[in-house]
Amino acid sequence: MHPHVEKILLEENQINERIQQLGQQITQDYQGKDILMVGILKGAMIFLADLVRNIEVPTFFDFMAVSSYGAGTVSSGVVRILKDLDKSIEGKHIIIVEDIVDTGLTLQYMVENIKSRGPASVKVCTLLDKPDRRKVEVPIDYNGFQIPDEFVVGFGLDYNERYRNLPYIAVLKPEIYQS
Ligand code: PRP
Ligand code: MN
Ligand code: MG
Repeated sequence: MHPHVEKILLEENQINERIQQLGQQITQDYQGKDILMVGILKGAMIFLADLVRNIEVPTFFDFMAVSSYGAGTVSSGVVRILKDLDKSIEGKHIIIVEDIVDTGLTLQYMVENIKSRGPASVKVCTLLDKPDRRKVEVPIDYNGFQIPDEFVVGFGLDYNERYRNLPYIAVLKPEIYQS
């Protein structure tokens, strides 16, 4: 275990098992269709990489980079586009992929932004859902895990850009968040 970690919330094998299930569910739901996954950088990249390898219909991906947190643990609520999609998504079946839905502000912005571009359909898939902190209601079609209101890192999630590479979801020691 990483020395800054206080406790592991979700072990690697639990996460992998759940991602397999989500992939199977998506495969069933999209029979006969192509999927365009839109990953929200940077947090969603690890989850997206694992998820797409568990989907058995033609799956394409593109990315948007948005940031609302900057440094620290609290959402600013202001979403900035740092990188836009490469191509038009008109007529495509989109699944927006997130690592976590917290206040919901990032996802609300993303869903509206994607819908305005004329896709055939839009669904949302997130690895983690922290419902206690929700400020705006957002529909989640595929949800990996509901988690309690604790600031978590790992599996793509960062604190000040660190810890994204941890293969599990964890809570850091309190002194790490203070420094
Ligand atoms: C985090 C996380 C989600 C978003 C969730 O991204 O990856 O995208 O915040 O928070 P919300 O529901 O309160 O909007 P962040 O802005 O930290 O960027 P990152 O993915 O590059 O870490
Ligand atoms: Mn993010
Ligand atoms: Mg972040």
